[in-house]
Amino acid sequence: MSARASTVTLRAPRAADRTRVAKMVEATGVFRPDEVDVALEVFDDAVAQPGVDYHALGAYDDDRLVGYTCYGPTPCTVHTWDLYWIVVDPAAQRLGVGQSLMAATEDAIRDRGGRLVVVETSSRADYGPTRAFYEALRYGRAAHIPEYYAPADDLIVFAKQLAPPTAETAPYG
Ligand SMILES: CC(C)(COP(=O)(O)OP(=O)(O)OC[C@H]1O[C@@H](n2cnc3c(N)ncnc32)[C@H](O)[C@@H]1OP(=O)(O)O)[C@@H](O)C(=O)NCCC(=O)NCCS
Repeated sequence: MSARASTVTLRAPRAADRTRVAKMVEATGVFRPDEVDVALEVFDDAVAQPGVDYHALGAYDDDRLVGYTCYGPTPCTVHTWDLYWIVVDPAAQRLGVGQSLMAATEDAIRDRGGRLVVVETSSRADYGPTRAFYEALRYGRAAHIPEYYAPADDLIVFAKQLAPPTAETAPYG
């Protein structure tokens, strides 16, 4: 498979994609089994009730899901949004799929009035590529809590201010 970003299409995922989501999330090798369960719960919720708590966006190579994001407004904030999950199939990584997903996710958040995107990740060495990815997309390190996830597994919070909508992109005129 060679799902270059230029050949993937982005659209809302469907419940039938659940098996692919499970396989991709497991195949990354960075998530514990309990995290895989949470990823699937969030995905299920996003496709069953889009936009109630979570939104989802999928990247497809033909009809095969090769990556997705789940995101939603952060409760008790004024227009801050959380990126809850992003995964790209290891076989399709480093081809720009993640960057395309993030650009479209940020556009969707901005279109809904979002102004700040926050994403939580780990300090572990196996998350080095993930941290490099957020930094490449101009997310800044906003917070660091030592041993948050586990001993020797710190929380790193990345954040990005979205540019205000222009006259062309403003959702409400
Ligand atoms: C993080 C992830 C979504 C990136 O997806 P991707 O499609 O491979 O990323 P892209 O190809 O769009 O990369 C965009 C840029 O990010 C940076 N980047 C991505 N992967 C990288 C890596 N392994 N090492 C260093 N930099 C990397 C590069 O600057 C890259 O641009 P370049 O290829 O032109 O140099 C993917 O690696 C993944 O699914 N990881 C496992 C799951 C995960 O950690 N999810 C986040 C949980 S918080």
